[in-house]
Amino acid sequence: MNIAVIGTGYVGLVTGACFAEFGLKVACVDKDKKKIAHLLHGKIPIYEPGLEEIVRRNMQRGFLRFSSDIDESIRNSLTIFIAVGTPSKADGSADLSYVDEVAEAIARNLNGYKVIVTKSTVPVGTGERIRRTILKTLANMPEDRRSTNLFDVVSNPEFLREGSAVEDFLHPDRIVIGADSEQAVAILKDLYSPLYLGGKTRFVITDMRTSELIKYATNAYLATKVTFINEIANLCDRVGSNVLTIAQALGMDGRISPKFLNPGPGYGGSCFPKDTRALCKIAEEAGYDFGVLKAVVEVNERQPKMMVEKIKQATKGVRGKTIGLLGLSFKPNTDDTRESPAIAIARELRRAGAKVKAFDPAVAEPVRKELRGVTICPDVHSAAKGADALVIATEWNQFRNLDLPKLKKLLKTPLLIDLRNIYQPARVREAGIEYVGMGQR
Ligand code: UGA
Repeated sequence: MNIAVIGTGYVGLVTGACFAEFGLKVACVDKDKKKIAHLLHGKIPIYEPGLEEIVRRNMQRGFLRFSSDIDESIRNSLTIFIAVGTPSKADGSADLSYVDEVAEAIARNLNGYKVIVTKSTVPVGTGERIRRTILKTLANMPEDRRSTNLFDVVSNPEFLREGSAVEDFLHPDRIVIGADSEQAVAILKDLYSPLYLGGKTRFVITDMRTSELIKYATNAYLATKVTFINEIANLCDRVGSNVLTIAQALGMDGRISPKFLNPGPGYGGSCFPKDTRALCKIAEEAGYDFGVLKAVVEVNERQPKMMVEKIKQATKGVRGKTIGLLGLSFKPNTDDTRESPAIAIARELRRAGAKVKAFDPAVAEPVRKELRGVTICPDVHSAAKGADALVIATEWNQFRNLDLPKLKKLLKTPLLIDLRNIYQPARVREAGIEYVGMGQR
């Protein structure tokens, strides 16, 4: 069965590569010719553990190919996955122009029954919009160029996380399929069959509108959970309780689960910020005031500023001081800095008159322009040298076991501000370094 995956971002590339791994013939398509040229040379544009090997292996065995010819790829495929970007517009709603473009291209190349699947996170009603766009484009085409009008649209949202995308794709908690055609559901189930042969993968089969909202509800719920524990941590700082023990106790309650209860400088990335704003907008357009989610968005935007306040308090003012910043990506194992709280903190520190020296294991060149005035260092020790405080903004594994005696010598003032709680306060203090964590002392 031939598959076309349109859009070679995180979701598209991982989906395409993993389906090829299942033994399906996949064409990953992108209109960005430069990106495709790089991919054809085995250069993966993103930092994602495990992805490069899967791409290389499947290209070699002829199961995965890259192309910028969208028309040919559509004509040659039974199933077409739409994995293009749905960026935020100024008002927070999702921009669907790339999705529309793909729908028009599908209509122009419809040469037999096809299943059109949305993998991108799209607002409720987008599946129906794709169907309408295809039918409208077909109606405007000369009759001799229209060979069929048989197609089904399916919503099949992706739940993979950056940094563990391949692992998440291969071991999903559930596969959600929203469709009103049994044939389309059967085809999708068949595509995923290598995952459920072991009997572990659960399917949720529903209608398109429900499936589309499941994706937003999941991200919004997780963003709420993170924001909730961030607020508990902020409160712990003020009342002297310990957030780690609270999170542990919360997690022991079977109704809550221990995951996504690590406090930090706020959620970032390409999904939670965009999707929480989009869901507020979806609700607003439906005449519903989504109070909880609006508060989550607001509190999360405030969190990096609160972190700077914490740094100011610990350093007794940052003006004229040097701050070493560890981590720039929004989370470890990725080079993605989109809506990264670390970037917001660096900027805010600069605005407050501090000198910032930053190091991140995966982020360097692209961020230099974005962070004018911030010195990008080649390693931890150069970021720490002569600094009045060292701040951990992203919990990269290599920051978990720093050479504390060496840091003490390098820092001008021995102070570690751990915004991810990756250190035990006592261990840091034993090394003669003052410790400030998140909701723990
Ligand atoms: C998120 C979801 O977890 C995926 O299921 C979803 O598929 C994806 O969005 C998407 O919609 O494409 P991702 O953005 O890669 O994945 O990152 P997460 O690991 O979920 O982290 C999001 C943010 O929350 C990060 O900034 C992270 O540092 C923060 N976070 C997460 C915390 O601060 N504390 C936690 O306990 C967990």
